[in-house]
Amino acid sequence: MQIFSLKKNTLHVWAFDWTSVPENFLGHMQSFLSPDEHTRMARYKIQDDRTRFCAGRALLRHLGGRYLGQDGRTLQMSFGDHGKPRWQNPCGDLRFSLSHSGVWVMIVFSERREVGIDVQSIGRRSLLDCMKIAKHAFHPDEVDFLKLCAEDIRLQKFYEIWTCKEAVIKASGTGVHGAMEKFSVLPLPEQKQWTRISRWQLRSLDADTDTKAAIVVEGDAGNIDVKRLSIADAGLETF
Ligand SMILES: CC(C)(COP(=O)(O)OP(=O)(O)OC[C@H]1O[C@@H](n2cnc3c(N)ncnc32)[C@H](O)[C@@H]1OP(=O)(O)O)[C@@H](O)C(=O)NCCC(=O)NCCS
Repeated sequence: MQIFSLKKNTLHVWAFDWTSVPENFLGHMQSFLSPDEHTRMARYKIQDDRTRFCAGRALLRHLGGRYLGQDGRTLQMSFGDHGKPRWQNPCGDLRFSLSHSGVWVMIVFSERREVGIDVQSIGRRSLLDCMKIAKHAFHPDEVDFLKLCAEDIRLQKFYEIWTCKEAVIKASGTGVHGAMEKFSVLPLPEQKQWTRISRWQLRSLDADTDTKAAIVVEGDAGNIDVKRLSIADAGLETF
């Protein structure tokens, strides 16, 4: 088995289009899921939602197994008070965060540092609906910022703020309830630059023109290296 190694200050960001997962792996994906994951998958009514969830968990297990030198099917997960998943011991200090939206599945792995990732496809909501969500869930400074944005970029900026906030929430593991409006992610990070939010470092990620994504990592940004990986690097050819 090919083992993936992760240096202490490196984040590995795996970004996949789940609709292009190789045929040979598609047939094996369900065999990666635990009984609980099978039950959860069956609850999704729409086929695409089932497959997106299955691809996310199967790839999380496959890749997690490659870092830990184990068969990903045998890895056990436990969950924090608000649902943040982590590997059960003994699994060293491998941390991860997973997000999916539209055709994207993104997974970030780190050694020791807590991480969060969020990806959101733009387009399912109207600007009016987004502003309603912002008034309810964003910090007042973020709502004011959106109101001042030119209308043609307001939707993009809404999703940039959303993904940044969710990435922070997912790194901290607190869950969204009552937490979103308490902090601001402004000024938004420039491409490939970190900004500090409390004990977190925040950065946007490239996706496509209809998608926004962000990652968050604990601690100083000074020496953090972000390595982007794709389905071709995942070692799926052996299935
Ligand atoms: C995790 C959460 C914060 C984001 O979920 P989401 O954007 O809907 O979905 P994503 O695909 O980005 O993330 C899902 C993954 O997050 C992880 N996750 C779940 N709960 C988590 C938590 N408390 N902390 C960190 N990660 C969590 C899981 O790995 C999950 O993957 P799974 O589907 O395989 O179980 C979710 O708990 C939530 O409540 N979302 C509500 C969205 C919302 O109303 N936002 C307000 C607008 S800003």
